[in-house]
Amino acid sequence: MQIKMVGVLGCGLMGSGIAQVCAAAGYTTIVRELDETFLNKGLGRVKKFLDDGVAKGKVTAEARDTTLANLSGTTSIAALKDCDLIIEAIIENLEEKRTTYAALEHVVGAHTIFLSNTSSLCITELAAATKRPDRFGGLHFFNPVPLMKLVEVIRALTTSDETYQAVFAFAGSLGKEPITAPDRPGFIVNRLLVPYLLDAIRAYENGLGTIEDIDKGMKLGCGYPMGPFTLLDFVGLDTTYYIANIMFEEFREPAYAPPPLLKRMVLAGRMGRKSGRGFYTYETK
Ligand code: 3HC
Repeated sequence: MQIKMVGVLGCGLMGSGIAQVCAAAGYTTIVRELDETFLNKGLGRVKKFLDDGVAKGKVTAEARDTTLANLSGTTSIAALKDCDLIIEAIIENLEEKRTTYAALEHVVGAHTIFLSNTSSLCITELAAATKRPDRFGGLHFFNPVPLMKLVEVIRALTTSDETYQAVFAFAGSLGKEPITAPDRPGFIVNRLLVPYLLDAIRAYENGLGTIEDIDKGMKLGCGYPMGPFTLLDFVGLDTTYYIANIMFEEFREPAYAPPPLLKRMVLAGRMGRKSGRGFYTYETK
């Protein structure tokens, strides 16, 4: 099938990045947010990233202008009516997603593929909430979306071969490297990353070393771009806590159980970079 027009639901950190890479790849892209304030914030993030890219010599002024010309924002679901493929990147809440898919079903064509960028919910359960379980799948991007090369393609139990192949090819057309991940909590990357992050917190609580030394150890000793605490702050402590709980509920293995310190930091509002404080303190703009 030919994909020309792409819709993105949600213009937060992930949604704005996803919309940006779709527009940069030449797709006519419409991103939908609930209100103008969130929409303008998300579109502003895209523009800033592209302007910074031009200033760094990583993006040409022409590529920036073409990307911005391919991208438009809306607060209306009906504006997505001509989209061939829609990527949902809204809040991680099953009911919100169900309601959004139901509204979309009324406006889009029968051929339209729905994809979710969820990092924690069951793709088969989301697919079952639609009238197109065969034209539904998971497409999981990584933060920061424009820089991270990987995308996980997840098949629901009901995803057709045709949809899976079209989605895999679409992911490649974005300049990303797709891998096929199973519809299990954590898919491939978070299945391995989350226990590592949780273990770093447990090790710190048990006196292994300072936050700075553990981070320095993993960064310089293993060549990771960020140590575990810098990465926890980057991903968001609330997000990590949420994913860990879902993984623990499914697998019932201690490796996925959120450590007490993580829970308390979330309860205290220390979510990481986005709240100005996590394991480190950040200047809020
Ligand atoms: N436009 C174009 N290119 C840009 C750019 C811009 N605005 N800003 C930066 N870049 C380029 C840089 O030029 C550089 O390119 P180079 O490697 O060719 O020189 C590259 O991007 C890296 O940028 P910086 O040098 O400014 O920054 P860092 O080297 O510190 O890298 C980072 C930043 C990419 C975020 C790196 O620290 C990193 O990879 N961190 C780990 C991130 C990670 O693990 N993400 C996954 C989280 S898990 C997740 O998302 C799943 C979810 O479900 C939880």
